[in-house]
Amino acid sequence: MSDTRPAIETLISEEDIAGRVAGLADEIAESADKNFLIVVILKGSFVFAADLIRALERVGVEPQVDFMTLSSYGTGTESSGSVALVRDISEDVAGRDVLVVDDILESGRTLAYACDLMRARGASKVRTCLLLDKTGKRSVPIEADYCGFEIGDRFVVGYGLDYAHHYRGLPYIAVVQR
Ligand code: IMP
Ligand code: MG
Repeated sequence: MSDTRPAIETLISEEDIAGRVAGLADEIAESADKNFLIVVILKGSFVFAADLIRALERVGVEPQVDFMTLSSYGTGTESSGSVALVRDISEDVAGRDVLVVDDILESGRTLAYACDLMRARGASKVRTCLLLDKTGKRSVPIEADYCGFEIGDRFVVGYGLDYAHHYRGLPYIAVVQR
């Protein structure tokens, strides 16, 4: 793996992301339990989650937030096929309304793993919010309850998503040229 950053091309601008995140907050606010818990799947979702909770605050919703680190990728652009729990949440989810927030839905394995774990621990309701959905790439039957943008089968970076640790801090979403 080379250390040079691959060429990229803008896919979704900062303005479009901001507008859609506000829209997602409106959708979530319509049916959110007063005392719901957001479980953010790290690392990729931290930028999205930070904007989403501020957008929720603007529409009067104040969830609790916890973090879980799951790993399915190595450092390349292909999923390894198995999900590992690297770091767990500390909140008790029994009887709670949980919203799992992740950056991107591809095979569905990461999201399914997180949702199954929340249900196994007794969460009363488990919903999902994804910034991006790579439609047509699913190997597990799972869909997002709230979805920011549908994209095709391309590897994207920026706004928290990385390619071998590159481009995580990019303020917009770009496609890696392959
Ligand atoms: P899944 O388990 O195959 O659905 O993959 C989801 C996880 O893989 C996401 O949480 C991301 O961390 C990572 N991922 C999938 N596609 C991309 C991409 O295009 N860019 C960066 N990370 C990705
Ligand atoms: Mg991820």
